[in-house]
Amino acid sequence: MKFDVITIFPEMVEDYKKISIIARAHAKKLIQIKAHNLRKWTTDSHQTVDDRPYGGGFGMVLKADVMIKAIKSVTGKTKSKKTKVILLTPAGKVFTQNEAKKLAKSDRLIFVSGRYEGFDERISSFVDEEYSIGDYVLMGGELPALVMIETISRFVPGVVGKSESVAGDTFSKDGKNANILEYPQYTRPEVLKIGKKTMKVPKVLLSGNHAEIEIWRADQALNKTKKVRPDLINKEL
Ligand code: ADE
Repeated sequence: MKFDVITIFPEMVEDYKKISIIARAHAKKLIQIKAHNLRKWTTDSHQTVDDRPYGGGFGMVLKADVMIKAIKSVTGKTKSKKTKVILLTPAGKVFTQNEAKKLAKSDRLIFVSGRYEGFDERISSFVDEEYSIGDYVLMGGELPALVMIETISRFVPGVVGKSESVAGDTFSKDGKNANILEYPQYTRPEVLKIGKKTMKVPKVLLSGNHAEIEIWRADQALNKTKKVRPDLINKEL
């Protein structure tokens, strides 16, 4: 699986690539992440990537000519059906676990990341999909691109330990935990003393009774979901 990110901050992507599970997956060639500096496709001495909006208004807008050149160059002469160009924008379709699973069927994803106030709309006809990672506004598309890369990479065989740990995840449409949050987990020590507080691991987890543990976990997960994310209970994922 190949990921390309077109950005004016390639170092954000390059730094991320060096860390933990993503670095290992990269070293094993299960995934490949490449950052492309948008300024490479500018032609003026100031390497201008943005300009003022027609019609007036605040902020600067990413120029279509530079970005379209970048998209075409990164994509290459022939574009396979399994390559998708994705624009990151708060005005896009909301990215979810199921969208990640669908996108994981691609061979190559090219992320188009902007900074500033927005894009020249004419960029849209050169992208296949527009995604938002949630209803909030960031400074740019770099973090959304990395969020999507990390989520999608978890579906690439071999990237995370056991494949069932992805299939059973919360928010996976066909996972057994689809509409439910994770149950609480504990590890050693059994008794934890922090200042005046003493916190014990629930007894049932020490009982060795797997049937009871399973019931307890299901109960905890349901209660947590009702409390924190009641909207999930009857939601069609
Ligand atoms: N750029 C700025 N905010 C964003 C968001 N929430 N999702 C995707 N791209 C963005």
